[in-house]
Amino acid sequence: MRFSVHPPITNASGPNSVTYAELERLARSDAGAVVTKSMTHCPRTGNPEPRLRERLHNNIGSLNSMGLPNLGYHEYAQIIPKLKEYKKPVIASIASARCSHNLAPIEQYREIALTMAHAGADLLELNLSCPNLEEVPISMDPQSVRQVLKAVMKEVKIPVGVKLSPYNNTPKLFEEIAQILLDFEIAYVATINSEPLTLDIDVKTKTKVIRPNEGYGGLGGPAVLPIALAEVHRFYKFFQKHNAQISVWGVGGILKAEDAIKHFLAGASVIQIGTLYLWEGPAAFAKLWAGIQEWLHANGYTCVEELVGTVRDL
Ligand code: DHB
Repeated sequence: MRFSVHPPITNASGPNSVTYAELERLARSDAGAVVTKSMTHCPRTGNPEPRLRERLHNNIGSLNSMGLPNLGYHEYAQIIPKLKEYKKPVIASIASARCSHNLAPIEQYREIALTMAHAGADLLELNLSCPNLEEVPISMDPQSVRQVLKAVMKEVKIPVGVKLSPYNNTPKLFEEIAQILLDFEIAYVATINSEPLTLDIDVKTKTKVIRPNEGYGGLGGPAVLPIALAEVHRFYKFFQKHNAQISVWGVGGILKAEDAIKHFLAGASVIQIGTLYLWEGPAAFAKLWAGIQEWLHANGYTCVEELVGTVRDL
């Protein structure tokens, strides 16, 4: 099921997308759609602070181990109708995490998905790849990916996207997951989630830069751009080869128009910004889109679609 977003830029689920005030700011911005923080069955306060280093040295990116702080899906069911007043698509990002209800992950995804569809979400983004929980992400286990998709797709009629981890050094796993996706009418794959299990150290204090999980967290921002481009391109080529109507949404390392153009060339038809939004706030969307349009015009293109997936081998 195709789903179009204009301009083809949204926030990446996570940074400053938890509360109504934050989501409303996104709704008022020039983003083509609003993506919520990944919501879970129970509300979560998340990991102990400091859990986010917004800027690593030399601005190479951001590092977080937030631990899915969010209001819980019941609260987002109230927020979504209010966000819809801004007349742009609202994308509900859904995750699972252990909670006192002891509900299996599949049941959590199913119940939240149904509730979000009922609340008026335009699209669901199944976050299968949170890097900061004790449990191994579902994206790492092909059979679990299949089960979650089966459970959700059976229940909901609205388009569904899937947010995946980087599979950069596990090509066999990439192939297995991509093959499973072909069995479902999903709208898009968003790739990549933050690069997991990364660490940074402050040499002045000689400490790790974040506290949870012994300092290990997910890396986003410019440092991950080449990883994201590789994942976008791999999925794009795989879906082309299999004639699948699944779009690729590029996430990772976009700070300026040229970075976005690289994502489009690699095969992304929509891009999401995480670290850039964290650094520059809602004004980032208009600035990035203006830069992209300027590039298109200067290079003889009339729209983004003409660029998608057209990178050439050397
Ligand atoms: C968190 C981080 C992520 O990269 C993600 O996809 C979901 C959640 C977090 O720790 O809150």
